[in-house]
Amino acid sequence: MLMDENMNEVISDLKSYLEYLKGMGIFALPAAEINLGQPNPSRVMSLDEVQKELGDCKRCKLHRTRRTIVFGEGNEKATLMFIGEGPGYDEDVQGRPFVGKAGQLLTKIIESINLSREDVYIANIVKCRPPQNRNPEPDEIQSCNPFLMNQIRVIQPRIICALGTFAAQTLLKTDTKISALRGKLFDLEGIKVIPTYHPAFLLRNPERKREVWEDMKKIAESIKNAGHGTDL
Ligand code: URA
Repeated sequence: MLMDENMNEVISDLKSYLEYLKGMGIFALPAAEINLGQPNPSRVMSLDEVQKELGDCKRCKLHRTRRTIVFGEGNEKATLMFIGEGPGYDEDVQGRPFVGKAGQLLTKIIESINLSREDVYIANIVKCRPPQNRNPEPDEIQSCNPFLMNQIRVIQPRIICALGTFAAQTLLKTDTKISALRGKLFDLEGIKVIPTYHPAFLLRNPERKREVWEDMKKIAESIKNAGHGTDL
């Protein structure tokens, strides 16, 4: 009986440890720890697996008011990834990122460097709509972040364009203002990150579009220099 209880405790500890590793993006243990010394080629997760892992997520309070989880969409092998803040009304209804007014502008921004939405991958810092489109809160961002990081690790884009304050500050773990971050190149696990203004901000401040255009030219240049051209 005591033996059973000990065993249950060990299994429960092991489960929590494996969950913790998954959250860190580690999906396989070194071969020696799990089998008889056979080489265990490091396994790359697929986006479907990340989505399955996310499931019908209820890890934060946003699940109570959301209609749909907006997982993200686009090319699993994208060279360029866009990360926004979180779904709004249209995205919550349709279950797709950036499909409202700001989304239409993002589509134009993408096309300005001769790419289409199908070439890139689009995701958000939080996958569920915050009520009344309020800012996502730190606990919500934290709950969602391991899944976004796993999407990034699966896609392994050359460059991530962080759209607006929340995307830039979350990915770069900083509280520096977007106006000071935009147009500069940063590193996230070996992937370049370039913050720029959020399309919704541009709708309210169209005079700032020129700066975003400058940032997009940098992105196009960076893709070209990486030997990918714009033919993604
Ligand atoms: N704004 C965002 O940040 N993301 C969306 O998906 C839509 C609007």
